[in-house]
Amino acid sequence: MTEPLVLGIETSCDETGVGVVRGHTLLADALASSVDEHARFGGVVPEVASRAHLEAIVPTMQRALDDAGVTLADIDAIAVTAGPGLAGALLVGVAAAKGYALAAEKPIYGVNHLAAHVAVDTLEHGPLPEPAIALLVSGGHSSLLLVDDLAAGVTPLGATIDDAAGEAFDKVARLLGLPFPGGPPIDRAAREGDGESIVFPRGLTAPKDLARHRFDFSFSGLKTAVARWVEARERAGEPVPVAHVAASFQEAVCDVLTNKAIDACRERGVETLVIGGGVAANSRLRALAEERCAKYGITVRVPRPKLCTDNGAMVAALGSHLVAAGVAPSRLNLPADSAMPL
Ligand code: KG4
Ligand code: ZN
Repeated sequence: MTEPLVLGIETSCDETGVGVVRGHTLLADALASSVDEHARFGGVVPEVASRAHLEAIVPTMQRALDDAGVTLADIDAIAVTAGPGLAGALLVGVAAAKGYALAAEKPIYGVNHLAAHVAVDTLEHGPLPEPAIALLVSGGHSSLLLVDDLAAGVTPLGATIDDAAGEAFDKVARLLGLPFPGGPPIDRAAREGDGESIVFPRGLTAPKDLARHRFDFSFSGLKTAVARWVEARERAGEPVPVAHVAASFQEAVCDVLTNKAIDACRERGVETLVIGGGVAANSRLRALAEERCAKYGITVRVPRPKLCTDNGAMVAALGSHLVAAGVAPSRLNLPADSAMPL
């Protein structure tokens, strides 16, 4: 039997994504982003995102089918992000998926956005060995997950207790006068700076915190420490060394993320670490994870940067995994759940 041809729709935040996969093979990954419309507000504006999805969804769908060289009739199943995310944004994708599923008489799978960030790696590196530990770091989430059986769901081991890692990048970029979203410009600026020039705090790594928050993260204290450091410089009338601040902030984030992810692998006897979400595009995080995991014989899997940030291919990848595992489709009245648990 040929592998299933699955279409995936993603509209949980500011990217309208439609992907097409056959098995683990990526055939199309069409994307329309409203990020420029949000940039002047310094963050994603939900109402603007929903309207942009509404305009982009049909053309993006058509582009994905054209790029894959297939028609809707050829598709075996439609997967769609049903949560978590912005309620109004999710509704556009879920309503569109239902319309296409109903019109073309296709099964529909409502999937979890975070599990899709894990599943996308299969498009690059093939089936994920289980169990694996997943480090999921995006604008809305920072979590460590145990992946025993991706088709059945994933088990949270820890998460941020305040800001997400991507949110910290976005906020620190703002106070350094860098554009939104802040991850890419900080990543670039940091290449010219020294990550050890300023020692910023590593949240939840003190022995007293580890007892209760072994696999949790905290980035809001780090953000405040960067703000205080920059303010002190400005008060003293001295220039802010943007590259050094960016590199030192980035080092603090990547240090904690990689150490906790490796601790989770070692504690659980797991040999595979998969990293996903927008922050997984960060060049320092990728290099540090490789370097540290090599010491412990842990294999790191990180998809190429374009697949780390939100896209439709990741939803199609998870849908394909569910179809192959024989999971029953969702009902056509499936809801969008902005706070969907894992
Ligand atoms: O996964 P994603 O596209 O959307 C959410 O689900 O949130 O992640 C977006 C986040 C933003 O906060 C952005 O600043 C961050 O990912 N990001 C990065 C990089 N590229 C994107 N953070 C650090 N370094 C990068 N190169
Ligand atoms: Zn995401």
